[in-house]
Amino acid sequence: MKILVTGGTGYIGSHTVVELQQKGHEVIIVDNFSNSEKSVLSSIEKITGILPQFEEFDLVDETRTSDFFKRHNDIGGVIHFAAYKAVGESVEKPLIYYRNNINSLLNILEGMKANNIRNLVFSSSCTVYGQPDKLPVAEDSPIKPALSPYGNTKQIAEEIISDTLKTSDIRAIMLRYFNPIGAHETAHIGELPIGVPNNLIPFITQTAIGKREVLSVFGDDYNTPDGTAIRDYIHIVDLAKAHVVALDRMIENKSLSDGEIFNLGTGNGYSVLEVIKSFEKVSGEKLNYHIVKRRSGDIEKVWADTKFANMELGWKAEKSLDEMTLSAWKWEKELSAHDSNK
Ligand code: UFG
Repeated sequence: MKILVTGGTGYIGSHTVVELQQKGHEVIIVDNFSNSEKSVLSSIEKITGILPQFEEFDLVDETRTSDFFKRHNDIGGVIHFAAYKAVGESVEKPLIYYRNNINSLLNILEGMKANNIRNLVFSSSCTVYGQPDKLPVAEDSPIKPALSPYGNTKQIAEEIISDTLKTSDIRAIMLRYFNPIGAHETAHIGELPIGVPNNLIPFITQTAIGKREVLSVFGDDYNTPDGTAIRDYIHIVDLAKAHVVALDRMIENKSLSDGEIFNLGTGNGYSVLEVIKSFEKVSGEKLNYHIVKRRSGDIEKVWADTKFANMELGWKAEKSLDEMTLSAWKWEKELSAHDSNK
């Protein structure tokens, strides 16, 4: 069955394409390279031996999207990653975020409906829980008011999908990611942040390799054992595998309802300092970091209740924090070797 992967050259998308191909799915990618590079296509081919089919256009374009679905009447499922994802930028440019993340989803749902494509996997986020009252946070925990337009696009998207399911044959699995980090073991694909990274891991690896001078740790006065904020970091390959399981679950009619939601995390929370320690241990590098004040909008701590995903999906994250930080470091070294060969 042919699977459309939107944003398939992005960080999570590219790892998912690899897992899909390795499980025998035929993949077609749609991407406009707004936050990725064309060379990722050949990197995927290096890993799997298969160059994915590919079309370059913007899914916000209604005519192009509808025409795409008409031309590809053999698509059996859609995994929708394509979206803007920088929290801070979304605060600066809310309309751009709403237009991009919402309109593309509407066009995809319309295309699916018109062409009787039933199965959708949607890329959501644990950001919908805000700072949960109870930890670990389970799927039925209350949704909190979004802290950013980006977070709001994820909440609104979940609602749009849920409403659409009521009046169509479409069924969906919405996956709420915790903090995906790391890279493929081959170091052929990984995260490619443009400019100064916002996220912790690329900032750590770029500092260690010498691209950045010093890592700022945002706050050491949180109510946590070492005072730094806690997140549930999950290896990108574990996360990618969950998408294939989710898609197959719908194709094999195993869903409990037309709209399911799963947390994708490990269930373990690690502080910023614990991540730094893990990185220093696996890399043998001493990281230059200092403590600065809290970053506005950050929550104190969150980690996933993974019971529902483990039992129902039959999926469990397997890789340790050390495996995550080591793979991220190998990827950074690969990138830097590549840059110096240019
Ligand atoms: N951090 C630092 N220094 C940095 C970068 C991050 O100390 O330079 C800290 C943050 O304060 C936070 C932790 O490292 O405590 C993780 O920060 P990230 O930016 O890597 O990740 P976030 O948890 O802030 O954000 C991630 C995704 C968002 C998503 C959010 C949901 O990047 O897309 O999880 O909670 F919305």
